[in-house]
Amino acid sequence: MTLEHRVKPHVADLSPYQPGKPIEELERELGIREAVKLASNENPLGPSPRAVEAARAALAGVHRYPDGASFALRRKLSARLEVAPEQLVFGAGSDEILELIAKAFLGEGDEAVFAWPSFAMYPIVVKGAGARPVPVPLDAAFVHDLPAMAEAVGSRTRVVIVCNPNNPTGTSVGAAALERFAAALPDDVVLVLDEAYCEYARRSDFPDGLSWVARRPGTAVLRTFSKVYGLAGMRVGYGVMDAELAGYLERARHPFNVNLPAEAAACAALEDDEHLERTLRLTHQGADTLRQELAALGLEVAASDANFLLVRTGAGSYERLLRQGVIVRPMDGFGLPEHVRITIGTPEENRRLVDALRELGIGSDATREARAGGAGARP
Ligand SMILES: Cc1ncc(COP(=O)(O)O)c(C=O)c1O
Repeated sequence: MTLEHRVKPHVADLSPYQPGKPIEELERELGIREAVKLASNENPLGPSPRAVEAARAALAGVHRYPDGASFALRRKLSARLEVAPEQLVFGAGSDEILELIAKAFLGEGDEAVFAWPSFAMYPIVVKGAGARPVPVPLDAAFVHDLPAMAEAVGSRTRVVIVCNPNNPTGTSVGAAALERFAAALPDDVVLVLDEAYCEYARRSDFPDGLSWVARRPGTAVLRTFSKVYGLAGMRVGYGVMDAELAGYLERARHPFNVNLPAEAAACAALEDDEHLERTLRLTHQGADTLRQELAALGLEVAASDANFLLVRTGAGSYERLLRQGVIVRPMDGFGLPEHVRITIGTPEENRRLVDALRELGIGSDATREARAGGAGARP
């Protein structure tokens, strides 16, 4: 008897999450320097200097366990978000909050409904818990098809996830559409609003996810310090929910999941509004400029409320861009082999991308194909 016969079948069947290619790996492989990574929706400005300083200071105390209740961060966030401290659950990234929800609510025979393409961890987390993922295709504009998702909710559904703005498309749903959907959801279904990118959203009717926490027990809003706060390497995320739901996740949580420097960095990052504003300015200006330049190249770009763009660059463009030292995210795994996801970088990084596309003739290829009514035309 080998482990092959002992491992749980639903775990053996998982395909591990494919992260964006690290810069160092590409530079090693190609023997190049100054590669650019626009692949993981990170903050191109880096972390707040205040967060770095706080983490550094916290290192002197790492012979002690961290505060298992994340008291300081809890107090700061509960004041900022105007929720009770016991409505917050912290994790090593918001990934971990997803895991806690799965651990508490999903098992064999249960289903979780989410849109697809969406965050690649959803099916991994759901299958990892032994439950069945129910992916519902996005509409033709790559937006959540909320009526179809509502249809997909059945007696076995325990969890529904709405990723807003959606990764990897950047598209978002507005308050009225979410209202129709959330208000009709059965009371015994956990509604997860994954708002990893909500700070970047510019549409005026972007939903107030936290109001749903107040209105609908069993709703969890997931947020993270990995994106706009520039702390992806620190691993801090959180969920906001009613105290009953938080209590179940707290039972499932490991006591020291948020480490000491990470909590200190997150607290300091919350104090640095200027860094946040600078990040938003850079991202919004970068997104607008890049969108114009990509359109000028004849490339289709999906609407985006996040810090990345889904762009139809044609099959094989991920590898071709890699050879130019530009790392973007391939979309083959989502059934979109002609698309890549591009994170908004600094103006210099964005320029490197556009130059590489031009050099490869990628925009002009796509334009030619579209004119010929071939593979470049809209699906
Ligand atoms: C939609 C979405 N949710 C959650 C996460 C998890 O982020 P983290 O675990 O770094 O907080 C990500 C990361 O890319 C994401 O894109």
